[in-house]
Amino acid sequence: MTNNMFFIANWKMFGDNKSVNSVKKVIKLSKDKKFKKVQIVYCPPYTLLDKFFRLSKNSNVKIGSQNCHYSEKPGPFTGSINANLIKSIGAEYVIIGHSENRFTGDNNNLINSKIKSALNNKLKIIFCIGETLKEKRNKKTNSILNSQIVNGLKNIKKNNNIIFAYEPVWSIGTGLVPKNRDLEKQISVIKKIIMRFWKLKNPKIVYGGSVNIKNINNFKKVSSINGFLIGGASQNTKNFIDIIKKSIN
Ligand code: PGA
Repeated sequence: MTNNMFFIANWKMFGDNKSVNSVKKVIKLSKDKKFKKVQIVYCPPYTLLDKFFRLSKNSNVKIGSQNCHYSEKPGPFTGSINANLIKSIGAEYVIIGHSENRFTGDNNNLINSKIKSALNNKLKIIFCIGETLKEKRNKKTNSILNSQIVNGLKNIKKNNNIIFAYEPVWSIGTGLVPKNRDLEKQISVIKKIIMRFWKLKNPKIVYGGSVNIKNINNFKKVSSINGFLIGGASQNTKNFIDIIKKSIN
């Protein structure tokens, strides 16, 4: 396990005003010297972005959005929010390419446009990639990862503001997780693809998919990952804190 670990909380469509109190505990934890090298990023629903930002302002906790529209300019896009608006409330990160959004129409081209507009707005990107169960069974994992990376980053110059989040779709919210050996193998494949494409030696790669307090001790043995993107378990503050504590002990 490396230093400067990321713990990214993806709250999906959960959380209300009351959730704010629990976040205060995580902010307090982040101020402890022991956790100086830990980067916590909260990605709540849009409705809580501003609140979370105000709360975390004087701490090392950063705020991210769960998605953004591809258009950099304001426009007639009912229900959407773009990178510029996200940046304007103080968020620093945005998740792009999450499988739950790929299912509802985000293809590699659209994801590419979203990444470009987020980078132009100086946001850091948590770029999700990963294979479905069917693709895994058909031994398509490596080619899927390759096409997600190569097409998602098309015409984008090498840069350090993209964190790759390897999230096998079959693992998200299911309790199923890859064996450490298989995870190491996939991370090394991802590194090779990025090396080939961008000549970037040490990309930041986090793992996501059913990370919880029970399996974190095992996951932390995978030395090639730089942290975790955590959905369900991050919504329970005690669990989220325990995951962070266990990871760095
Ligand atoms: P999960 O979600 O931790 O609930 O599996 C991860 C994610 O969707 O980012």
